[in-house]
Amino acid sequence: MWYHRLSQILCSTRHQLKGGFRLQALRYPCFQKRILAAPRWQHSAMGPLNGAWQQHEDHLELRYAGMVMRFDYVWLRDHCRSASCYNSKTNQRSLDTASVDLAIKPQTIRMNETMLFLTWPDGHVTRYNLEWLLKNSYEGQKQAVQPRILWNAEIYRQAQVLPVDFQSFLETQDGLKKFLQSFLLYGIAFVENVPPTREDTEKLAGRISLIRETIYGRMWYFTSDFSRGDTAYTKLALDRHTDTTYFQEPCGIQVFHCLKHEGTGGKTLLVDGFYAAERVLQRAPADFDLLSKVPLKHEYIENVGECHNHMIGVGPVLNIYPWNKELYLIRYNNYDRAVINTVPYDVVHRWYAAHRTLTTELRRPENELWIKLKPGKALFIDNWRVLHGRESFTGYRQLCGCYLTRDDVLNTARFLGLQA
Ligand SMILES: [Fe+2]
Repeated sequence: MWYHRLSQILCSTRHQLKGGFRLQALRYPCFQKRILAAPRWQHSAMGPLNGAWQQHEDHLELRYAGMVMRFDYVWLRDHCRSASCYNSKTNQRSLDTASVDLAIKPQTIRMNETMLFLTWPDGHVTRYNLEWLLKNSYEGQKQAVQPRILWNAEIYRQAQVLPVDFQSFLETQDGLKKFLQSFLLYGIAFVENVPPTREDTEKLAGRISLIRETIYGRMWYFTSDFSRGDTAYTKLALDRHTDTTYFQEPCGIQVFHCLKHEGTGGKTLLVDGFYAAERVLQRAPADFDLLSKVPLKHEYIENVGECHNHMIGVGPVLNIYPWNKELYLIRYNNYDRAVINTVPYDVVHRWYAAHRTLTTELRRPENELWIKLKPGKALFIDNWRVLHGRESFTGYRQLCGCYLTRDDVLNTARFLGLQA
């Protein structure tokens, strides 16, 4: 390892002269001391990705592959991947984080083309692969977002996303992967040639996830018999919404399979909520911001027959990750939105205006994808992203489906090498 000390000193002196620091440094000795002690970039042996580091009082600044990253010293000690600190067989931390001195600082730091080495006051050595740091740093995560194609009806139709065949979905890894790829990109995906039975629909769902049992049971099977206290169990039209907003964790994925319909109407409406939210962000960022910050309650109260339920879910309409502002969950259901009592009056009015902006986007006809569900064609909907609704219908309509555990669907996708 070698350092470019001379060039740094020259560079730093030039900078001081340019900025007029030198004069001040001469006049005030303490200031001079500060300048001399200022951190400097230390370079690794010249690798293709040109790494360099700078030691600061409370953090390490690392430049690698064109990115500047900052690491707190406790973080660097806590994430040590040595055999005594981390069990690489179970991928679990062995180090007791509470045992790390919060004022810890490395005694020595060195770096080569691929690795960073930190020696701690007790002599313990931590080695980090620079690629690993790049991937796992806050700065790296800020740039990483889930690949998605946001769509309106035209974009989705133009994409000509192919459905996956039932047998291929069930029996081949390739079929399953293709299905999950389009599901992750668009938030909806279809499987064709599914035998129109409840059992086969269950088999289909079980291929990618555990079925999430809810107050509606494991598999739901409904007609317009008003057997439950919910509009879904009628023949009425349903405006766009996401389901189970009244759960603290709304159901991740919904599966629909129409087993029979003898009558008219009943087309299914799909709207990409993330597309609409993105439009709000572009056109009215203050509205987007408010919708992502104001928590609201959604509620389900049912007293029909033997069913007695009172569910409450709390959260903003738009849920974003704080580190990269990526939207990951939209909670939108005007039917189930509860009394607004979590917001002061002056914010309430602004919230209604922001909600109107989003609703306007969600209701634009060009954003509506209408499809007729038919026996044999099962639809999977990302309930955290895509809103669904339906037009009113006549006749006998039998629909079956279920909710899936989001964690399990994403787990299957990751297992197949997809980013999820
Ligand atoms: Fe619904």
